[in-house]
Amino acid sequence: MDLRQATIDDLPGMQACNLSNLPENYTMKYYLYHLLTWPQLSWVAVNPKGVIVGYVLAKMEEDPADGIQHGHITSVSVMRTYRRLGFAEKLMRLSQRAMVENFNAEYVSLHVRESNKAALHLYKGTLDFKVNEVEKGYYADGEDAYAMRKELKYLK
Ligand code: ACO
Repeated sequence: MDLRQATIDDLPGMQACNLSNLPENYTMKYYLYHLLTWPQLSWVAVNPKGVIVGYVLAKMEEDPADGIQHGHITSVSVMRTYRRLGFAEKLMRLSQRAMVENFNAEYVSLHVRESNKAALHLYKGTLDFKVNEVEKGYYADGEDAYAMRKELKYLK
């Protein structure tokens, strides 16, 4: 398995992976915006046949309300048959390190559904994210989101 920075050529594969794994989907223009603006922050897991089986799509917050430079995970997912092999953890760590090294990020944020047990285990248990607040009705279907954060100072 190859874990590497995403390129423009990877975008259709990332979008296909996202469509298979999550109800939160994005236009190709939005993927392109991420890669053109913060090419260091999005990563892919590619199987030996060249198929993208996991990705992390990430950005820097452009106008942070708190005035603190920080990254944001827009989306992360891994195809079902490749789960529990550590790929999401590795992709997340690669993106987090790049946020610090390239953009001097102080912390990284994300939103996750309250019901998403697997992702919550990954964020809380493995990656040490903390819940910052609950955003009521954040998702299109009305589900609440945990807004989570992880300090990145330890990587500096
Ligand atoms: N149940 C419990 N804990 C889990 C599970 C699960 N099903 N899956 C992962 N974890 C936790 C475990 O602590 C695991 O450590 P362990 O293997 O030592 O037990 C840890 O996460 C790391 O697991 P990885 O193998 O790195 O995670 P994986 O590659 O399987 O991907 C992911 C996890 C991304 C949540 C995957 O299940 C997935 O794609 N789900 C659907 C899409 C999704 O929910 N994405 C996140 C949405 S929020 C957002 O994008 C910001």
